[in-house]
Amino acid sequence: MLTGSIGMKSMTTVIALANQKGGVGKTTSTVNLACALAHRDQRVLAIDMDPQGSLTIYYSHDPRALEKDEATLYWGLMKDKTLDSLILAKPEVWPDLIPASISLAGAEPELTLLWDSATGQSRYGVTGVGVPKRRRNR
Ligand SMILES: Nc1ncnc2c1ncn2[C@@H]1O[C@H](COP(=O)(O)OP(=O)(O)OP(=O)(O)O)[C@@H](O)[C@H]1O
Ligand SMILES: [Mg+2]
Repeated sequence: MLTGSIGMKSMTTVIALANQKGGVGKTTSTVNLACALAHRDQRVLAIDMDPQGSLTIYYSHDPRALEKDEATLYWGLMKDKTLDSLILAKPEVWPDLIPASISLAGAEPELTLLWDSATGQSRYGVTGVGVPKRRRNR
């Protein structure tokens, strides 16, 4: 996933490279897209959302060491770290990165438990979720 301001000044464009199938080039495409955009003077933030940490490893970081320091995406999603504090800035023309490690695999079941307790699933057969309309930027 990459973010960068493309086109309009105050907008951030979020690009998610996702596919359920493994080995189809998600990480490779993310790296190349991020690199190409950074070379076009876009400020790019790459977010590794894969517990394998391939993107993190690609950028020469050690997911296990980062995990020990509570410095991976998991700690921003599930604990009290701010996402901002997890950004690893690179001095070269590389994107900044929020790294991931295997702990991210635990986030989904943890979120499911949170969801179940929040909706009181044991008491309700159906839960309706009200969502806001999509914000229009243009
Ligand atoms: N356009 C391409 N042409 C040839 N080989 C490619 C291309 N894109 C990726 N590959 C190769 O395919 C393999 C899988 O790529 P990659 O790791 O990016 O896939 P992925 O979807 O991120 O995999 P995973 O599901 O394991 O995270 C790698 O060996 C990579 O070098
Ligand atoms: Mg990958």
